[in-house]
Amino acid sequence: MTTVAIGILAMACLVAVARGGNFFQDSEMTWGDGRGKVVDGGRGLDLTLDKTSGSGFQSKTEYLFGKIDMQIKLVPGNSAGTVTTFYLSSQGTAHDEIDFEFLGNVTGEPYTLHTNVFAKGQGQREQQFRLWFDPTKAFHTYSIIWNPQHVIFAVDGTAIRDFKNHEARGVSFPKSQPMRLYASLWNADDWATQGGRVKTDWSKAPFVASFRNFNADACVMSGGRQLVEPGAQRHGLPPHAVGAEEVHDLQLLHRPQAGGAGRACRVQAPLMRSSRSLQEQQRMNP
Ligand SMILES: *[C@@H]1O[C@H](CO)[C@@H](O)[C@H](O)[C@H]1NC(C)=O
Repeated sequence: MTTVAIGILAMACLVAVARGGNFFQDSEMTWGDGRGKVVDGGRGLDLTLDKTSGSGFQSKTEYLFGKIDMQIKLVPGNSAGTVTTFYLSSQGTAHDEIDFEFLGNVTGEPYTLHTNVFAKGQGQREQQFRLWFDPTKAFHTYSIIWNPQHVIFAVDGTAIRDFKNHEARGVSFPKSQPMRLYASLWNADDWATQGGRVKTDWSKAPFVASFRNFNADACVMSGGRQLVEPGAQRHGLPPHAVGAEEVHDLQLLHRPQAGGAGRACRVQAPLMRSSRSLQEQQRMNP
């Protein structure tokens, strides 16, 4: 995959722009019976998996377009059979979905980053990647940049996949259903690691995946009401504290809408950075 140049993409934003990410405020545990825990005053969230259950959370609000970032540190050591997910999904049968899935592996062998895009219930747009770093040693930023023309998957600011809108050629594209953010840690040792040949070593449980600095520069939908004012605080550790780079943030330009029916915003995506890492990264299933 070559450098992804996005240029400036204008889009209509339906309601408002949400920023910031305090897990207490913005997310709720959906399953796991206490295995998911907000930590660090709301800046982080740990998901746990043991033999009985995994765990998961979701955002309280739904988004329609924007840039969603999450820093994740994956299950270290022998993570075989575990799957950590971070994805957007709408409700209902003909649903839309944009997926990051991290398939664990035995100690010393690489995770597989699995991506997929569903539109109107139709998936099978999987692409898998190898990361160019050990994702268990530190937090790294995984981003979904979503507008009416592109779904871009980025890792530490580098675009690894650009799923373009080819509706003109009859390929469905997610652009009309608001999506919520979901994340989970669960067991899938029937297929996840080396095709299901390697099973989870439960003597290593509980397994923990850590999330932090959830940030949504996104248009928020919730019952058609404007819930979040643009420019709300960003929570979490400053990037320098975690050694992460803040690159090419989407800029959100607000414009009062004639008639006062909420706000309109345009998302301007500056050129994505091209990076050596792109060439270094190996795409497994083109
Ligand atoms: C795990 O490691 C093996 C050996 O390097 C590799 O073939 C496989 O794709 C890796 N990832 C998963 C999820 O199995």
